[in-house]
Amino acid sequence: MPRKILVTSALPYANGSIHLGHLVEYIQTDIWVRFQKMRGNTCHYVCADDTHGTPIMLRAEKEGITPEQLIARVWQEHYADFTAFHVEFDNYGSTNSSENRVCAETIYKSLKSKGLIEVRSIEQFYDPVKNMFLPDRFIKGECPKCHAKDQYGDNCEVCGAAYAPTELINPYSAVSGAKPELRNSDHYFFKLSSATCQQFLREWTRSGSLQPEAANKMQEWLGTEGENKLSDWDISRDAPYFGFEIPDAPGKYFYVWLDAPVGYMGSFRQLCNSKGISYDEYWKQGSDAELYHFIGKDILYFHALFWPAMLHHAGFRTPTKLFSHGFLTVNGEKMSKSRGTFITARSYIDHIKDTEYLRYYYAAKLNGTMEDIDLNLDDFVAKVNSDLIGKYINIASRCAGFISKRFDGLLGKVNSVATAEFESAFKNGEIAHCYEQRDFSRALREIMRLADVANQYIAEKKPWELAKQEGKDAELHEVCSSAMTLFRDLTLYLKPVLPELAKQVENFLNISPRSTCCFLKPNCLARLS
Ligand code: MSP
Ligand code: ZN
Repeated sequence: MPRKILVTSALPYANGSIHLGHLVEYIQTDIWVRFQKMRGNTCHYVCADDTHGTPIMLRAEKEGITPEQLIARVWQEHYADFTAFHVEFDNYGSTNSSENRVCAETIYKSLKSKGLIEVRSIEQFYDPVKNMFLPDRFIKGECPKCHAKDQYGDNCEVCGAAYAPTELINPYSAVSGAKPELRNSDHYFFKLSSATCQQFLREWTRSGSLQPEAANKMQEWLGTEGENKLSDWDISRDAPYFGFEIPDAPGKYFYVWLDAPVGYMGSFRQLCNSKGISYDEYWKQGSDAELYHFIGKDILYFHALFWPAMLHHAGFRTPTKLFSHGFLTVNGEKMSKSRGTFITARSYIDHIKDTEYLRYYYAAKLNGTMEDIDLNLDDFVAKVNSDLIGKYINIASRCAGFISKRFDGLLGKVNSVATAEFESAFKNGEIAHCYEQRDFSRALREIMRLADVANQYIAEKKPWELAKQEGKDAELHEVCSSAMTLFRDLTLYLKPVLPELAKQVENFLNISPRSTCCFLKPNCLARLS
């Protein structure tokens, strides 16, 4: 029975460009999804732009356009970038969609009917010039610890201290420069501190849905049994705010992080509507479908606490697993604009063009843990040259020419000794297992080991010498046919990582699109084009 799998990547914010850090996640997810599809599983991959919130509202205002115009433009840019890197979504939506509004309201209303929403008045900084409440990031002032000037309202970039915005000395609004005033307003809270949420989250943490490192983090956040470390979660924001207005609460909007994960459902709903897929089959409680969220470690808190608690209490299924990854560094350091290592997807495309090189490099580094991964620019060039060109492509470049020139493009007998190692690799399923476990690094090491085996075979048989000798045609044909068969099979293994190159090879070899069943029907290789 094929599995039914729904996969998501985190929704990128619509107020910035896609950069190489983001791509770690989208490429990782895409490789895994392509692998699942090749295996014959039913797998849907959805994502969307995360469009709501104050920063987007203010940026649109600054550009003199509406938030809707801004997010429509950014959607096009994001989508073009993903396409260029061969990240193939089944649906790429927007959190600002009617489908998402319905999903968010449904969840909110269920939580409310369960008594899990509470209204409380809180005091916050208000910009009397802009007439709006200010998020922490939009309040600046002097650090209460080290007295550095112009620090943000949540933490100091100089001494690292964390504090409440009300502790800043001489605070000012980063929007208008005005001195903010403290004002009260009603906020809506999701009662995460309730006994039912705590108990549910403790059980969920133990259910095997988290990587070990993430489960440890959860333990820290939850504290020991009996301890009540979670606080209620403020899910509302006051107007003016770009988002969804809360039902029956005029002037109050869902906080962007409420309707963002719901965006997974909203985007999937669009896919269901266009493809006739059953939404409930994937989201109802007790569903037999699998649900995986690929996320960065920075947003684990939202996905491991708020999200499952919301889903569970609103009567939906919870994620099967969260796949959390580490952060990208460039040449060992955090990406930085001043060091020139803050590289956008667009600037990679403009300068390097071949986006599959980056897919290969990331795959070679990803092992399914939350460790950070480093893009070392020298290593990147060396790795692509030695593995892709030196090992993989080299097989075809040493043998394909003889097949087309001397044998009319037709393959002949394949030597079973030459292919034995490949067959046993397929039978033991090691590579597939590594892909499944998201240990792409190990999968590629095994694939390159096989490429070495193929290259050794060619080096021993020396087709270029056979070609010069009388009466060696049959042997030359067999050596080259065997080598091209190995090349074909390496292409199958590399296909989740290098889908475009695999397509070119399939065309060149004149074979049907590779899927893992190809190994069950050996020798579908017919004629070189
Ligand atoms: N909008 C939220 C996610 C909402 S999901 C319901 C968000 N957006 S983001 O644009 O900041 O990040 C999108 C994803 O990219 C996140 O999973 C984040 O961890 C990941 N990355 C962003 N920068 C990254 C690196 N430098 N390295 C690796 N992943 C990074 O968070
Ligand atoms: Zn400080």
